Amino acid sequence: MHHRSTWKNRWTFMLATAGSAIGLGNIWKLPYMIGVNGGSAFVLVFIACIFLVGIPLMMTEILLGRRAQKNPYDGMLKLAQEAQVSHYWKYLGGMGMLTGLLILGFYSVIGGWVLSYIIEAAKNSFSNITAAQSSANFDGLLASPVKLLFWHTVFMCMTMGVVARGVNSGLEKANNILIPALFAILLVLLGYSMSVGDMQTAYQFMFKLDFSKITPVAVLSALGHAFFSLSLGMGAVMVYGSYLQRHVSIARTTIYIALADTALGLLVGLAIYALVFANHLAPNAGPGLIFQTLPIAFGHMPWGSFTGTLFFMLVAFAAWTSAISLVEPAIAWITENTLIKRRTAAWAIGVVVWLLGVAVVLSFNEWKDIKIIFGLNIFETLDKLTSTILLPLGGLLMAVFAGYYMKRDHVQDELDLKATAFKLWRIANNIIAPIAIAAVFLYLFGVIK
Ligand code: TRP
Repeated sequence: MHHRSTWKNRWTFMLATAGSAIGLGNIWKLPYMIGVNGGSAFVLVFIACIFLVGIPLMMTEILLGRRAQKNPYDGMLKLAQEAQVSHYWKYLGGMGMLTGLLILGFYSVIGGWVLSYIIEAAKNSFSNITAAQSSANFDGLLASPVKLLFWHTVFMCMTMGVVARGVNSGLEKANNILIPALFAILLVLLGYSMSVGDMQTAYQFMFKLDFSKITPVAVLSALGHAFFSLSLGMGAVMVYGSYLQRHVSIARTTIYIALADTALGLLVGLAIYALVFANHLAPNAGPGLIFQTLPIAFGHMPWGSFTGTLFFMLVAFAAWTSAISLVEPAIAWITENTLIKRRTAAWAIGVVVWLLGVAVVLSFNEWKDIKIIFGLNIFETLDKLTSTILLPLGGLLMAVFAGYYMKRDHVQDELDLKATAFKLWRIANNIIAPIAIAAVFLYLFGVIK
C-alpha cells in the first residue's frame, strides 16, 4: 500500500490549511474587490457568504478528504463506490485539480509582483514617494514583460521546489512562525494607517450598512471570493483533510481558520482604505490597489524600508504556501497513480502552469487588448472563470455529494458533532449553500434577472 504521511498534530494541519487559505486572496484581492464592488455592500455579503456557505462547505471538504484518504480524483471515486453511486463523481475531483492549475497560472504572476516589491522596499525606493509616483512605478512594472516574466519564473520555481520535496518536509515547519508574524506586522501597518490615514472614512466605506447598494454583481463576486479566500471548491482543502488525523474536530478547526482568514483580509482592507482616502486615491483602482497604496505608507513611516521589506516578504510567504496547495492535488494524483516520481511530476506540471503564466504576463501589456470572453482579457478570464464559476460549482457538487449521496452515518462519523450542530451543518450544506450557489449561477446565465 501507498504510505501516506499524516500531520504531526492538529496545529500543523491547521497552520497548513490556514497557510493555504491566507494568501493573495486576503491581501491583494479582497481589498481591491471591496473597492470595485462598492465597499460595505460587498463586505456585508462577503461575510454572510463566509458564514453561511464557506464554513459549512469547508467542513464538507475536509470530511470528504479525511474519509477518502486520497487525492481528489481517486478520493471521489472511492467515496462514490462506498456510497454505491455513479463513478462519474471522480470527475469532480479531476475538475478541481485543473481549476487549481488555472488559478496558479495567474496567482504566480501576482506572487511575482510581490517578490519584486520586496526588492523595491529593500532598496528604499519608496522613500517619500508621492501617490502619483507610486502609481507610475506600478504601471512601469506592468508595462515590462521582462520583469514580470522574471518574477513569475522565480515564484514558480519557489512553489515547485517545495512541492517537489513533498508534504511534510516542505510545508510544516515555516508556517508556525510566519503566519503569526504576518498578523503582527499587519497590526503595525494598521497602527500606522490609523495614525496618519483617514480611518473613519475607511471604516464607513467598509462597514456602513446600506442594503440598497447591494447589486447582483457584488453578490456574485462576494460568493466567488468566499471560495477563493478559503481555498474551497477544488480539492486543496480535501487533500489537506486527507492528511488530518482521525481524532481531531473538523468543525472547530474550520471555524478558527475561517475566522483568522476573514479577519486578516478585513484588517488589510482597513489599513489600505485609510491610506486611500487620506491620499485621495481611487478606491476602485482594481488589481494594482495595494501595490499603489502601500508604498506610500512605507515611504513615509519611520523604519519604512525595513517594515516594507518584511511586509512584502511575509505576503510572499503567504502566497507561496497558498500556491503550493493549488498544485498539491494534481501532484498527489500523479504520484498515487503512476510511477512518476514526485519530483518529476512537480517540474512537469510546473512548466505547463508557467506557460499559462506567460500568457497572463502578456495580458498586462502586449496582449492587453486580446479579449477572450465577455470583453475580458486573459488574466481577467482566468480569474473570473475560476472564482465565479469553477470553484462555486465544485463546492456545490461537493455539498450535494456529502449531503445527498453519502451515507449519513459516514458523514456523522467524520464530523463527530452533537445533534444540534450536525443539524445546523446539514441545513447549511444541504439547503442554504446549494440554493445560494445555484441562484448565483442562474443569475449568471441570465435566467433570473
Ligand atoms: N486561498 C488562497 C488565497 O486566498 C488562494 C488559494 C489557495 C486557493 N488554494 C486555493 C483558492 C484553492 C481556491 C482554491 O490567496
